[in-house]
Amino acid sequence: MSRILSGIRPTGTLHLGNYLGAIQQWIELQTKHDVFYMVADLHAITTPYKPEELQNNIRNTVLDYLAAGLDPEKATIFVQSHVPEHSELMWLLGTITPVGELQRMVQFKEKSEQHKDFNQAGILNYPILMAADILLYKAMSVPVGDDQNQHVELARDLAKKFNREYGQTFPEPKAILTSGKRIMDLADPEQKMSKSLGGGIGLNDSPEEIAKKLKKAVTSSEPKVIRDAMHAAQNSHRATIDAWTGDPNLLKQFHGVRNLFTILFAVADRDTAVKWQTAAEDGTLKFSEFKPALAKAIADHFALFRERREVLASDTAHLDEIIADGAVKASIAAKQTLTEVQQKMGLR
Ligand code: ADP
Ligand code: TRP
Repeated sequence: MSRILSGIRPTGTLHLGNYLGAIQQWIELQTKHDVFYMVADLHAITTPYKPEELQNNIRNTVLDYLAAGLDPEKATIFVQSHVPEHSELMWLLGTITPVGELQRMVQFKEKSEQHKDFNQAGILNYPILMAADILLYKAMSVPVGDDQNQHVELARDLAKKFNREYGQTFPEPKAILTSGKRIMDLADPEQKMSKSLGGGIGLNDSPEEIAKKLKKAVTSSEPKVIRDAMHAAQNSHRATIDAWTGDPNLLKQFHGVRNLFTILFAVADRDTAVKWQTAAEDGTLKFSEFKPALAKAIADHFALFRERREVLASDTAHLDEIIADGAVKASIAAKQTLTEVQQKMGLR
């Protein structure tokens, strides 16, 4: 049973992209591995945020984890800052991290560009903290979207370097990539669905909200664009994007329709999926009918999630207990590793 760790920043309620790109895989992994899933609150404060909203966002993220099917009996679910060893190990790893490595991280470049008036060391040091998260639990595998792969590689480099300089301590972690299911924003399908954009579907959205958001989704009236986009969502060898790259408008439509089919194939039952796949193939697909059908498929897929979440949210004492238990369990592993590291570095 190998050790696995992952986390999501509590920057708002989780969306369909987080679910299909990350959580769904976390749920599968929890039955076969020793899994640690955290709420990365210390990472969330590296970009502008509202302190008065943070506690709520942290609790909501834990609620989302639980409602989605993460089971505290199988997985250690915890909040990063409740285990202070993360920050301590980060400091120690900082002493073997080349600044140049941090400066070439794509996320650092993007975020420091995006938040020019908030360009603090926290954004630069973000990957050292993430390496500490992973190495503290001696995790071998890290299920993340491809945007986080570079950070996992840094964690791997730091593990190797530490082992070389101070003696064998850490396994070399690897990302388990979930890039197959990158979900795009409905209204702006050239950007990934994100908590900060408007066209995202929240896991807890009501069926009405989902239908409303789908109405704004980018579609196409070109049968060939629709067919190609459906094939691309199926990962079929008949998929072609080249035909549309010359025309920005059609390309955007292609991305929009592909995204809708990617979501359909992920959430709908087989009959529903085949019905719309055939319509796209025949050139008879009408978005005025497809959109409400897709909205219903999404709403149905998350009906149990909404029910569970409501029940869980009504019992705050139970939620507190799960969060406290998670911190205790995570601390045991964390303390052990930190002491070992301190001893190897000559601090104890
Ligand atoms: P966000 O971009 O919404 O703030 P995070 O960066 O906190 O989300 O990502 C949490 C996890 O969800 C990561 O593993 C990330 O790769 C995955 N993820 C986020 N957005 C998407 C998306 N649109 N499609 C697929 N996976 C995603
Ligand atoms: N940086 C990750 C993201 O933005 C979240 C995260 C923090 C994480 N620490 C981690 C993911 C450790 C995996 C392992 O999505």
